[in-house]
Amino acid sequence: MTLKSLLFVPGDSEKKMAKAASTGADALLLDLEDAVAQDRLPLARGLVLDYLKGHDRANQQVWVRINPLNTPLSLPDLVAVMPGKPDGIVLPKPMNADDVRQLDHFLSALEQREGISLGSTRILPVATEVAGALFSLNTYAGCSARLTGLTWGAEDLATDIGATSNKKDNGEFDEAFVLARSLCLLAASHAGVQAIDTLSVDFRHTDSLQADVRRARRQGFSGKLAIHPDQVAIINAGFTATPEELQHAQRIVDAFAQANGAGAVQLDGKMVDKPHLTQALRLLATRNGH
Ligand code: COA
Ligand code: MG
Repeated sequence: MTLKSLLFVPGDSEKKMAKAASTGADALLLDLEDAVAQDRLPLARGLVLDYLKGHDRANQQVWVRINPLNTPLSLPDLVAVMPGKPDGIVLPKPMNADDVRQLDHFLSALEQREGISLGSTRILPVATEVAGALFSLNTYAGCSARLTGLTWGAEDLATDIGATSNKKDNGEFDEAFVLARSLCLLAASHAGVQAIDTLSVDFRHTDSLQADVRRARRQGFSGKLAIHPDQVAIINAGFTATPEELQHAQRIVDAFAQANGAGAVQLDGKMVDKPHLTQALRLLATRNGH
């Protein structure tokens, strides 16, 4: 299933977790990392476990973002939340696919302990949060059957580089961050998993969010992180094919069906060939939630 909207919710906020369930987000990412102060982490682990145990997940996945694997916090995070059978784990600040493999092993052990079917817990790395990780994005292809997508982060990357901002004066991401974004997109495609765009921090500006989503979808991203409930509906709508797009895709498929095996046909005076057919079929498949 494609996850269009993935909403971060601080794991120490019972109020926000309760509200998150009705936002329409495809997945909630209950956070134990940056949104939680360390002295509240034990409390947050307990609240996240309660949430996982208390919520039906037929219509909304519930994931947990743990702390980075190179901290002593990550294993206790996992041990605390796995009894709740999360749909997946968001892995912050990995250096490369070795971190995903290590998490995969931890998950196998804990799934065994909890009687969860082996391999069912998914993994989503935030793949560009440290500068060195940009040189290893090619390693994710084939690293684990649990890998669901790749997403990227601009806030921690700025801190790691020593940049005081990740934006140019005109509000667009600066070069290093555009590079990280593009590499994430290409690496996800290379790995055959979803490319998930980073969050827009400016949650009051719904116009710019709409434009961000439109651009991301055109570029090949199929989902986006959110930090505020108001962002969810815009993201869901933006990553949903419009009736006009579906109609056009169907016309391409029909044109090929009537072309007696020709590899290229014309539609409205324009050449369409195999890549267009592949795109059209992919778009039509999204009607079934794939
Ligand atoms: N999930 C669920 N509910 C949320 C939410 C979220 N991410 N963000 C805000 N809400 C709730 C608020 O509690 C508030 O609820 P109420 O109407 O019942 O009082 C409502 O949505 C409106 O929120 P608003 O007043 O506009 O914002 P805020 O000042 O309460 O919160 C943030 C602003 C940025 C602190 C908040 O959106 C947030 O915590 N986001 C997630 C942060 C995070 O997880 N970061 C880590 C990943 S980068
Ligand atoms: Mg962070």
